[in-house]
Amino acid sequence: MSPRTATALAHPNIALVKYWGKRDAALNLPAVPSLSLTLDGFATTTTVRWGAAADRLVLGGVERGAAELRKVSRVLDLVWGGPGRPAAEVTSENNFPTAAGLASSSSAFAALALAAAAAADQPLDRARLSVIARQGSGSACRSLWGGFVEWRMGERADGNDSHGLPVAPADHWDLRLVVAVVSADKKAVGSTDGMTRTALTCPLFPGFVSSAPADVDQARAAVLARDLHALGAAMERSTNKMHATMIATEPTVRYWKPVSVAVLDAVEAMRASGLACYSTMDAGPNVKVLCAAADAERVAETLRGVPGLLRVEALAPGGDARLVG
Ligand code: DP6
Repeated sequence: MSPRTATALAHPNIALVKYWGKRDAALNLPAVPSLSLTLDGFATTTTVRWGAAADRLVLGGVERGAAELRKVSRVLDLVWGGPGRPAAEVTSENNFPTAAGLASSSSAFAALALAAAAAADQPLDRARLSVIARQGSGSACRSLWGGFVEWRMGERADGNDSHGLPVAPADHWDLRLVVAVVSADKKAVGSTDGMTRTALTCPLFPGFVSSAPADVDQARAAVLARDLHALGAAMERSTNKMHATMIATEPTVRYWKPVSVAVLDAVEAMRASGLACYSTMDAGPNVKVLCAAADAERVAETLRGVPGLLRVEALAPGGDARLVG
């Protein structure tokens, strides 16, 4: 077979209503529905070349080992979809910190699925690519689309109806997510391990699961109505419940740092002074703040006054994952 190559770009997404917990670990099916915003500015660019001697992953110029390669190979298997799969070389770059709670795995597996399918000449639709990306990392199933994306849990045992679903495109609503970078270090506990441990040991977890669909319903309606207060309230509620379950996990999974809490306080103070802004955090100490585009510079300036932050950046809604070569 002659080597075939394609390059795809995908943006990470940040969950406004959170995915935490799996109902099927082998197929990577979620315990809850979730809803996200895809971000412009941050991106993963991935090239897949079919026809290598063995599967290889080079991320940020560094050859990766078996653990990281395993999920990549699984996605390649699913894209190829049959026997006789050739090996592939995967080269990937992020223009933002990897594995630091900035959703790098979401853009990574979305770009990988899209590039691998194009390079293999496999005419897979976006929902199928999303099902495949999900099996690399759950949140990646939402990064095939830009703007606001829902991940329905699905009902089928094979998981083929558990994929992203676009709710509204990037230009539907001129919001900003102001990203306050507390640390660019790789997180101490990865999402997969953290959520497995939460489901096994946290007595609060069933409450998180049973209340999640109402948060997604509120968030979806708020997006469609462009109601920032309702969206922000659903996002903060979902965030706080997720972190409560993380903290009540044994051993605890606590991503908050003192500077994270200082940012959360600053957001509350801005809101008390009449500025509509809302915070969220994921599996890491960084804080993201949702606000109208017109308020983003004021929010960012205020956060730049919080001692200890490495960087503050306002990101607009981003577009679909796409082929770039
Ligand atoms: C806190 O998608 O990274 O960011 O499916 O195990 O790879 P795996 O987990 P991952 O978890 C994301 C968790 C989160 C919330 C979210 O993005 O919904």
